[in-house]
Amino acid sequence: MARRKLIAGNWKMNGQLADGIALARGIAQEVKALGKPACEFLVCPPFTLLTSVKKALRGSKVALGAQDCHFNAKGAHTGDISPQMLKDVGCSYVILGHSERRADHGESDELICKKAAAAHAAGLKTVICIGETLKQRDDGKAIEVCTSQIMGSVPSDSTSTDTVIAYEPVWAIGTGKVPTTADVEEVHAAVRKVLAKKLGKGNANKMRILYGGSVKPGNAKELLSLPDVDGALIGGASLKVEDFLAIAKNSGC
Ligand code: 13P
Repeated sequence: MARRKLIAGNWKMNGQLADGIALARGIAQEVKALGKPACEFLVCPPFTLLTSVKKALRGSKVALGAQDCHFNAKGAHTGDISPQMLKDVGCSYVILGHSERRADHGESDELICKKAAAAHAAGLKTVICIGETLKQRDDGKAIEVCTSQIMGSVPSDSTSTDTVIAYEPVWAIGTGKVPTTADVEEVHAAVRKVLAKKLGKGNANKMRILYGGSVKPGNAKELLSLPDVDGALIGGASLKVEDFLAIAKNSGC
């Protein structure tokens, strides 16, 4: 089953107007220069930059995503943004359940599942994040944790068209530490098995499972050539045009 790789940048809480626009323009230009790339590209800037980045990406094949959303369409939710609002400004994707949101905002699997269902209903694709802490890995519980996060945070009617999974070991995020390729492949294969149980084999075989956590130009090739790794969710290295593109090129895009 050929799955088109997704190269996704999570800009997190970085970028003011001028940097965001310059970064998006740079990425758009480089992706255009690839002609017909074998991969799909996505950038997820902070909310404040979505509209300007959308403009900067015009005419390119780079998709726009946000980093979170509420589960309601509108109403009295101070500080929140709805899936419909994201659609309105040109997003096609939203990242949900990132470990930084699970940690900083106490987001539960149940809440993430509710958000994902609302995002799908609004016509957005979701990138649902899972991943174990260092303690959980050391205790031999990585697969158990990821399994339970998939069971709890992925809506049961999700399909390979509206959902992407991102496996991001918490201890690998922003640390320069990366699991061995054997460990990455073991978790990705296990995740696909759980997806098959939850969503059926057809969806599981077609659903993209990204790896995230200290992906750099230098390790992209070995990580992204693993059989069940269908792209990358990139933090730090997605803030530099050269690094983001080098990761894509080194991954055969
Ligand atoms: P880094 O690539 O900076 O480790 O971040 C990964 C991540 O959290 C992407 O969502």
